[in-house]
Amino acid sequence: MEKEQPEQSNRRDFLLRFGAFGALILAFGGFARHLLVYFTPKKQVVKTHKYLVAKVDEIPLGKAKEITIHGKPVFVVHLENGFKVFSGVCTHLGCIVKWEENNDRFYCPCHKGIFDRTGQVVGGPPPRALDEFKVAIDKNLVFIEVTDKMKGPWT
Ligand code: FES
Repeated sequence: MEKEQPEQSNRRDFLLRFGAFGALILAFGGFARHLLVYFTPKKQVVKTHKYLVAKVDEIPLGKAKEITIHGKPVFVVHLENGFKVFSGVCTHLGCIVKWEENNDRFYCPCHKGIFDRTGQVVGGPPPRALDEFKVAIDKNLVFIEVTDKMKGPWT
């Protein structure tokens, strides 16, 4: 039997140690990756939807326009400081409010809830203002922006 040369032995030891070290690094890397995935919160992608609700010049100052989105009423109101868009669903028990142009207010016929032109409660049982949507004006068009997480008139 041939006796190993010291040089061969060193090489084999080196390769064994290198291989063991590499395996350790790979194992630790895999473990660290799992830890990182476990402790890193998932990014939630929030989609925004834009709905065209009016043209800027079609609603005179102080007037409102009612439209329907997914079967639910939405009111676009032209105020001194711009456009506001409200859900037409009463915040009391969910009846549909009406825009009363002569009284400059929203009125809920179910329990006589009253909201002013800015959607704030001014009378009756509604516990809070009408839901308001984020408005974006682009050139001559009025849009509302709704995210998936928002409660929209269609949810
Ligand atoms: S549902 Fe509108 S006031 Fe009750």
